[in-house]
Amino acid sequence: METVNVKINAKKEYSYPILIGENLFEDPYEYIKQFTKAERFLVVTNKKVNSLYGKYFEDDFAAFLILPDGEEYKNQEVLSLIIDKAIALNIERQDAIIALGGGVIGDMAGFAAAVYQRGIDFIQVPTTLLAQVDSSVGGKVAINHSKGKNLIGAFYQPKLVLADTNTLNTLDDRQYKTGLAEVLKYAFIEKTCGADIDYKFMEFLESNKDMIFEKNHDVLKELIKICCSLKSCVVNKDEKEKGLRAILNFGHTYAHAIEAITKYSRYTHGEAVSIGMKLIFDLALNLGLIDKSYYDRALKLLTDYNLCINPDITFSKDAFYNAMKSDKKVSSGKINFVMPFSPKEVKIMNDIDKKLVLRGI
Ligand code: NAD
Ligand code: GLY
Repeated sequence: METVNVKINAKKEYSYPILIGENLFEDPYEYIKQFTKAERFLVVTNKKVNSLYGKYFEDDFAAFLILPDGEEYKNQEVLSLIIDKAIALNIERQDAIIALGGGVIGDMAGFAAAVYQRGIDFIQVPTTLLAQVDSSVGGKVAINHSKGKNLIGAFYQPKLVLADTNTLNTLDDRQYKTGLAEVLKYAFIEKTCGADIDYKFMEFLESNKDMIFEKNHDVLKELIKICCSLKSCVVNKDEKEKGLRAILNFGHTYAHAIEAITKYSRYTHGEAVSIGMKLIFDLALNLGLIDKSYYDRALKLLTDYNLCINPDITFSKDAFYNAMKSDKKVSSGKINFVMPFSPKEVKIMNDIDKKLVLRGI
């Protein structure tokens, strides 16, 4: 088993471990009970994940809430179902919520834990690759509003992240590749995360591609450990995205516009992110920020991983720019871009000419 510790602003009371291993579901409460004093648990999951993994979490002290599956249910109505269930079960301050599922369940159950009785313990049990390398770590919890994604949320850290790599065996190819897009993101931002260790993550991904596609668990554990270590370095320094944390949005400026224009239904988040990363490399090359050899290397990695890099529809440039301008990451009317400027390094820029921004659209 691998362990990564998240220490928010170096404050011990805000630290928690990410446990990464196979077979952690054989006795999940053995781990969970080490990191919370809770004696009763509300397990929030969805139909699909429950049918696969719910049985491992059944116990006399655990009640279940099984939600419908999908991003469209990450909303206020479904949040109320979680709160209603907690009230009906008389869940108390010292009890805990377990979020068993992908990023949708993690974000929503985490937000419920943040607001129920002003905050109760919660445990992230991520079951998608995207959730294991990204969404379960760092405490961003949220629900969507009809006017935008993740508009209602909080920074609320879990007590433990329990990532069992066996769950990745049941992910379909599309969902697995969605997670791989966020994985590649870490290779492109590695040097700016401020880790003491040089993980050489791009080289790792270049040389382990076949084993990653075969879902070799030793390689997957290492991969998840590296991503979580890099993310925790960033979150340790900047929990609330006052600066550095924005680098985790590499490729996301374009991705959020693509998702918004297509009403979150045509592309998965990871597909939009891989298209967004390709567009940001194009932009960086056009601006002369990176040389052609790094551009070619980055593009080769994206194509070798067979990620979606070209949208199969045409966007109106105006609609695209408007979507970028309405994103919640815009500050003082300026669109922020996380730009590559040397291998694995990025910096934030917000004064890029509109024509150049839209050239690849
Ligand atoms: P998801 O939670 O919708 O899961 C994708 C699909 O896989 C769902 O149908 C789910 O039921 C299914 N699934 C989950 N685990 C499975 C398993 N082990 N085997 C088979 N099927 C399984 O999507 P996601 O990609 O995990 O997460 C996307 C969400 O994460 C978005 O809402 C996004 O906003 C959020 N997100 C949050 C953060 C953050 O920092 N909080 C970061 C990135 C993304
Ligand atoms: N996924 C972006 C963040 O956690 O900040």
